Amino acid sequence: MPDPQLLRRYLDNPATSWPKPEPVLAAWEQAARVIGATAGRAGYREALEADAIRRRARERVAGLLGGVDPGRVAFPAGATLALNMAIHGSVQSGDHVIGTAADHNATLRPLHWLRQQRLIDTTIVPCDGLGRIDPDDVARAWRPATRLVVCTHASNVTGAVQDAAALAAIAHDRGGRLLLDAAQTLGLLPDIATASGADMVAAPAHKWLQGMSGIGILWARPDVELAPLIQGGTGTASDTLDMPTGFSDRLEAGTPDLPALAALVAASDWLAAQPAASMAAHCCGLAADCAARLRDLDGVRVIAAPEGAPIVSFTVDGYDPAEIAVLLEQMAGVQARSGFHCAAGVHEYLGTDAGGTVRLGFGPFNTADDVAAVVMVISTLTQG
Ligand SMILES: Cc1ncc(COP(=O)(O)O)c(C=O)c1O
Repeated sequence: MPDPQLLRRYLDNPATSWPKPEPVLAAWEQAARVIGATAGRAGYREALEADAIRRRARERVAGLLGGVDPGRVAFPAGATLALNMAIHGSVQSGDHVIGTAADHNATLRPLHWLRQQRLIDTTIVPCDGLGRIDPDDVARAWRPATRLVVCTHASNVTGAVQDAAALAAIAHDRGGRLLLDAAQTLGLLPDIATASGADMVAAPAHKWLQGMSGIGILWARPDVELAPLIQGGTGTASDTLDMPTGFSDRLEAGTPDLPALAALVAASDWLAAQPAASMAAHCCGLAADCAARLRDLDGVRVIAAPEGAPIVSFTVDGYDPAEIAVLLEQMAGVQARSGFHCAAGVHEYLGTDAGGTVRLGFGPFNTADDVAAVVMVISTLTQG
């Protein structure tokens, strides 16, 4: 029997990165197997080690975001929760919020929900055929009641990276705030908080950071007060029913996922040990090569932003994207996602609202052989 692992060409990294670096798996297992205590609750040796891991995780993430205050980094249980906390925690009844057509459902759905409840009004600004936002559209959509701009830093369908600094400047000039969804950039791009000027940044640990699922990241500037979406035990101020006032305490009710925090520390150290920007350059090089070679094939439409995140979407004339994903795996072990990729708005602008796209995402462990395998399958289908 051939080893199925050897046949696995994993190109679904924008969904979750795989394989994980060995030190990440080792730290995750060590936290579960040996430490086995919860952070922020008790004083015995392993509990103190758990505290230290969570503190280190905050410091590492603060460093990755550009040297921000670790005390303003919280670890909700995933990026979707972090984004919901940022949105629900900062809007008030009567506010107007601007989102973008390039955004993920992790932000578009909470905005839609709040609008349906008649709590806020929203404007979703358009994007171009590669998923890029024109910041002028955000400026034009501004109203006196606008409080918040929510934008994905990089489209999870086309890889297009938005001009976050321009969006932050527009928001700040008008007394508003920018929430940046860095799910597809944190780990690939440096210093996102400081370079963008965003007021809040949210991301998962399990994508480009190379950590595990179970925790997300939410950073906010010191002047951003967030009402806690979730209330519960924090291990602090336990004698009162009021939620504590400290930023992370307020946003981390419930038992933290210690193995995921330990994995995040190891992942940050693994990223830091790579020669500067080499992981991003490697992944983006493979994506650019794949996009160029697919573009050369008749009947293939490639939708990938140049110089974006290492994501390549494409369609093939005469095939449903779901069929292509099945054929990629059957013919060459290539694992890719097809469909709409949890991005409800973008496909209208990409012209892919019939069935979405096939999406390839290149991670640090992919090689030129994976590109060759994709090109072999698609050229066989288009020539046949
Ligand atoms: C752009 C973007 N935002 C948010 C998310 C949500 O991340 P999670 O599912 O880890 O909560 C994703 C996940 O695919 C994403 O691509």
